[in-house]
Amino acid sequence: MSKISIIAAVADNYAIGTSKKLPWHLPADLKRFKELTTGHAVLMGKRTFESLPNGPLPNRRNIVLSSIQSEGVNEGYYEANSLEDAFELCEREEQVFIIGGEAVYKQSMLIADFMYITWVHAQFNADVFFPTIDFDNWIEISREDFEADDKNPYPYSFVCYKRKK
Ligand SMILES: NC(=O)c1ccc[n+]([C@@H]2O[C@H](COP(=O)([O-])OP(=O)(O)OC[C@H]3O[C@@H](n4cnc5c(N)ncnc54)[C@H](OP(=O)(O)O)[C@@H]3O)[C@@H](O)[C@H]2O)c1
Repeated sequence: MSKISIIAAVADNYAIGTSKKLPWHLPADLKRFKELTTGHAVLMGKRTFESLPNGPLPNRRNIVLSSIQSEGVNEGYYEANSLEDAFELCEREEQVFIIGGEAVYKQSMLIADFMYITWVHAQFNADVFFPTIDFDNWIEISREDFEADDKNPYPYSFVCYKRKK
């Protein structure tokens, strides 16, 4: 059974995206995302997939959820039309990262074992939001806090939560 982790960058007002993009540019978060997910499966919704600037993420098994089967060959990713199908495609994977967006996070909140959240300490206008977290169900197992710097314009925290048994 794979370990299932949600990974998301979330603003203090739970904003995660606007106009099919991230509301911020935070290179430290992108670096952490790459370090954590490389070598593992990444599961995402169709709209998140379409928002990737360079197509499928390299060195990761990309699984894209869609109710519409695309025509032709999918270059560098697998398609799944239900969460169940998606998990079947990664049953041999040690770790599966659920990488968004809003629709997929909502469906995964009761399934995931871990959540890797980058809290972006600012408020943003957004059209997509992370689901409300019921902190009664999660234990914070690690936290690193950072100030804004010349490359990262907002303070941010890398926090890992584990589901309570
Ligand atoms: N801050 C972050 O960490 C973060 C991470 C990822 C994404 N985002 C942002 O989130 C936004 C995208 O989120 P979103 O909610 O609009 O879209 P999404 O969750 O990426 O994709 C939604 C689509 O995925 C497919 N889908 C979802 N669940 C499915 C299921 N159970 N079975 C079959 N298909 C399913 C459907 O595609 P079809 O319509 O083709 O059926 C649905 O329309 C963007 O702004 C992106 O930048 C932010």
